[in-house]
Formats: sequence, C-alpha cells, structure tokens
Amino acid sequence: MKRFRPYFHYLASVRGPIALAVLCGVLYGAASGAGLPLLVKHVFPRIFSPDTSEVPLLQVAMVAAYIPFIFTLRAVSGYLNGYFTQFAGVRVLEALRLDYFRKLQALPLSFVQGKQTGDLMSRGLADTQQLQFTLTLLANDGIKQPATLVSALVAVAYLAVTSEGVLLALVCLAAVPLTVFPVRFVGRKVIRRAAQVQGQLGSVSSHFSENLAAAREVRAFGLEERETSRFAEACRALITSQMKIVKYAQALTPAIEVISAVGIAVTLVYAYRGGLALETFIALITALYASYEPVKKLGALSNELKRGTAALDRLEVVLNEPVTLADPATPALVGRLRGALSFRDVAFAYQPGHPVLEGVNVEIPAGTVCALVGPSGAGKSSFANLVPRFHDVTAGAVLIDGLDVRALRLSDLRRNVAVVPQDPVLFNDSILANILLGRPGATRAEAETAARDASAHDFITGMPQGYDTRVGERGAALSGGQRQRIALARAFLRDAPILILDEATSALDGDSEAAIQAALKKLMAGRTVLIIAHRFSTIRDATKILVFDAGRLAAAGSHAELHAANALYRSLHDRQTGGA
Ligand SMILES: Nc1ncnc2c1ncn2[C@@H]1O[C@H](COP(=O)(O)OP(=O)(O)OP(=O)(O)O)[C@@H](O)[C@H]1O
Ligand SMILES: [Mg+2]
Repeated sequence: MKRFRPYFHYLASVRGPIALAVLCGVLYGAASGAGLPLLVKHVFPRIFSPDTSEVPLLQVAMVAAYIPFIFTLRAVSGYLNGYFTQFAGVRVLEALRLDYFRKLQALPLSFVQGKQTGDLMSRGLADTQQLQFTLTLLANDGIKQPATLVSALVAVAYLAVTSEGVLLALVCLAAVPLTVFPVRFVGRKVIRRAAQVQGQLGSVSSHFSENLAAAREVRAFGLEERETSRFAEACRALITSQMKIVKYAQALTPAIEVISAVGIAVTLVYAYRGGLALETFIALITALYASYEPVKKLGALSNELKRGTAALDRLEVVLNEPVTLADPATPALVGRLRGALSFRDVAFAYQPGHPVLEGVNVEIPAGTVCALVGPSGAGKSSFANLVPRFHDVTAGAVLIDGLDVRALRLSDLRRNVAVVPQDPVLFNDSILANILLGRPGATRAEAETAARDASAHDFITGMPQGYDTRVGERGAALSGGQRQRIALARAFLRDAPILILDEATSALDGDSEAAIQAALKKLMAGRTVLIIAHRFSTIRDATKILVFDAGRLAAAGSHAELHAANALYRSLHDRQTGGA
C-alpha cells in the first residue's frame, strides 16, 4: 500500500463516489457476513418448530420476509459499491493516462527517440489499464471483504459463545490464520512474474509498431516470414509468463478451500461432542463459510496489488524521469528575437560519456545564412537541434541575442525558430490544417500565400479536395517532395527570425528544386539560417560555412576561404563537384 501513497492525490477528485462505495461496501459486508448466519439461526427455528400450526401465517410471512430483505440489502449495496468503484477507477485511469501522455510531450526528444515506441504506448495503455484494474479491485474487495470477514467472525464468535463457550469459538476460528500461508507464498511468486508479463506486453506492442512503421522494408526485403516468427516468439514468451502467474494464482483458492474444509470438519466433530442444536450448527457453518470467502478474495487482491505495483514501476520510468527542459522560474520575457546565435564551449551527449559535440565555439550574427557541412554523423543535426532546445547542452551555453536559451520560456524560444526537418511528418488531417500548424490562428489566405511561396500551391489545388485533402497517417498519401514543400510552407507561415533547414530540399527533383530555390532565397532573406545541405550549389552561397568533423567544429569561413585552407572541406567539395 505504501507503494501507492504518492498517487493518492488522484483519488481527490473522486472522493464522493469513493465514500459512497465504502459505505455500500460496509453494508454489503454486514449483510453477507452476519446477516445470513443470523437468518439461519433465528428465522428457521420459528418456522420449523414442532408446533408450527400455532404460528399464524402472517407472522411466518413476516419472518420469511427477512430472507429477501437481507438479499436485497446485499444486492443493492453490492451493486452500488461496484458501480462507484468502477466510476472512480476509470476517472483515475483517465487522469493517470493523461499525465503520462503530457509527460511524454515534455521530455527531451532524445528520451522519446531512445525508447521503443510500442513499449511507450504499452506503458500508457496496458499498464495504466492494469493499474485501473488493481485500483477498482482494491476499492471493491478492499472494503467489502474485510467488512464481510469482520462481521462473519463476529457472528461465529457470537454463535459459539452463546451456545457452547469460548473454546468452541476458538476451535472454529483456528483455521482462519492458517490461510495466510498460501496467500503469502503465492504473492511472492506473483510479483516477479507480473513485472515480466507487463514487460513482455510492451515488447509485443513494440514488434507491432516497428513492423507497421517498416511496412515497405518488410515487403522490399521479403521479411514477412522473419517478422511473423519474431512476433510469434514475443507472443509465446508473453503467454509463458502469463501462464506462470495463472499457475500460482489459481492454486490460491483451492488451497484456502482445503484449509477451510478441515476447519469445518474439526468444528463438526467438536459440535457433535458438545451436542449442539441443528440450527446453531448450520448457522455456525454458514458463518464460517462466510468468513473464508473474504480470505480467498483478499488473497486474490494481494496478488492484484503485486501486479499493480509492477505496472506502476513501468509507468514511473516515464513519470519520474526529470523534466530537464522545464521553463525557468523567472523567464526572460522576449517578443520577436533578432536571431544572433552564439555557441560558447558547447558540449553535448545523448548518452553520458559519449560526447557528440565538444568544445564548439562560434558566433553567428543575426541575418547570417550559415551552412553546416561535414561527414555523416559529424554532429550537424545535433548542433542545429540545440537552438530550439530539442536537447540541452551538457556543458557550455547556446545564446540568442545574448540570452541563454535556457533563460527563455520554451514557448517563446520555439516561436522564434522554424524547423524544416529532413523527413517532415504530417498529421492525419487536411493539407490546410497541416500548413496552419506553422502559425495557429493564421487565416486560410495566409496559408495559401505560404503554400505559393513554397511552390506547393499548384500540386495542392490539383488534388481532389484541394487544401481540404486529407494526407493520411504521417502524410503517407503524399510524395516525399510534396511533404517537404508542405513543411516549407509551414516555415513560411511561421515567419520566425531563425530558420533551420535540415536537408530540407533533399527530396525535391530538379524541377521543383529549381522552382523552390528562388522561394528559399526569399524565405532566408533577413533571417538567421542554419542550413544543412549536401549539395554544394546551396552551400557555396552561404555567408558563413561551419565544417564539422567528429563532433568538433573543424573550421569556419566563406567558401573561398575554406576551399583554400581546409583540406576536409576541399575534399568534401571536390568529391561531389568532380574537382571543379
Ligand atoms: N537520438 C540519438 N541518440 C543517440 N545518439 C544519437 C542520436 N541521434 C544522433 N546520434 C549520434 O550522434 C552523432 C551525430 O549525429 P547527427 O545526427 O548530429 O549527425 P549529422 O552530422 O547530422 O549526420 P547526417 O549528415 O548523416 O545527418 C552520430 O554519431 C549519431 O550516431
Ligand atoms: Mg543530420
């Protein structure tokens, strides 16, 4: 229980339903634990007494009415208890899922990229579901069963003491503590395996999402068989662990039943020797039976708590991950920045101990078109991603207009940066909506102007529903070049002082590239631009060129300077342009 304490605040919003559930649970417990045995003890003798003929029918009916009364009380309170606990459970699930999702939005890009998508989804869906189940069961049986147990034990004690004495009561109750042993044994077995099951559930969904994301590769490389057998393996591993839990969890109920049967048999022998009346004896058995039922249920509940704990562990991997990219406590308030960038002694690593950038010092005045070149993996994209704080530097600082990017509110910072990535992703929405993401609140006319500037207008109006055409999940219904032009239109619309183009024109054919070069020039005018391009036709025109090599800034200067003085730049350039 202590494990769940940090999450009790989720219950605050469902205080009312939980209070009602508790009340109904207590009523239910009293009706089942004590109501039924007392019914046997007090109602039956009146009806089956030797001189029945003397009891008026009306009185019998009134006594008999006790039966439906007890059962109705039990039914209604049981129903309401179930309803309110479920209600509270789904509300908590909703809040927890939302917090998990929100947290995923706030974490650095590298956290999300470093995890398996399917597993992250499984934690947000299956593990929260498991927790809801645990909570519902806890709220349900956690009240009903102890209440039943207590009232049944009170009834046993009352019956035994009133008819025979304390010794009989002790004999009757002797077996109850014994049931703790199977409960504890099974619980220990379940906890480890529960964590395994949730993990394997994550791995099954990872297989799913990876496979669907690579649908083209699977077909191109003929991987259907391999994928299916890998998926089958993951499913089999999941089932094996699930069955291990079933093996132990299912043993619990029979074990407790055997113990309780022994207890009842001992009571029987003792009652025979004590010469107990039939109705007292049956009432006693009923009460004893009513007290074992909650023990069974509480045992199952303790297993369920173990599973909930395992699910919580997995959720906390995300929930407890520190949000390193939080807004500063007292942010520097800025409007539109000019866009002067400076990198001071910047180092950056995705994983501690494996620096991707080191000792980077560079000043990029506002309005400079700055090209980043270097071999693949040199750190160009990582360098550019530090500006909008997709990641934070591990040492040094990145400044815009003399302000550390960490001193700005994230939303202020990112409003001043437009990013056109290598492989832009579109949302499953209309083309118009996708362009409007560049600047929510812009008008349709402004979006169309942006599309014209990005030379996307013509292909868009050629589509069946024009700007209202839906693009499919991730923009799958469009070609790579079309997606890139929509991403460019977003950037036009965003109209930010800092522009980051990461291979932004790599998917364009000769024609669209020619058409867009002019547009790009227009987009770049008056902005600070970080452009990562492999084509030297683009790079040569840049005011400033940064040459990256294995995480270090190897050289900086204009094309003429670098071509004369930097061997790496010269070899990169000459290799592509054939030595021109
Ligand atoms: N999300 C990530 N997690 C861990 N390491 C990463 C991640 N992204 C990139 N890296 C590593 O960081 C290094 C620099 O990568 P980066 O993407 O900055 O290179 P690049 O210069 O842009 O290369 P390219 O020209 O191929 O795009 C590479 O060694 C890469 O393996
Ligand atoms: Mg890159």
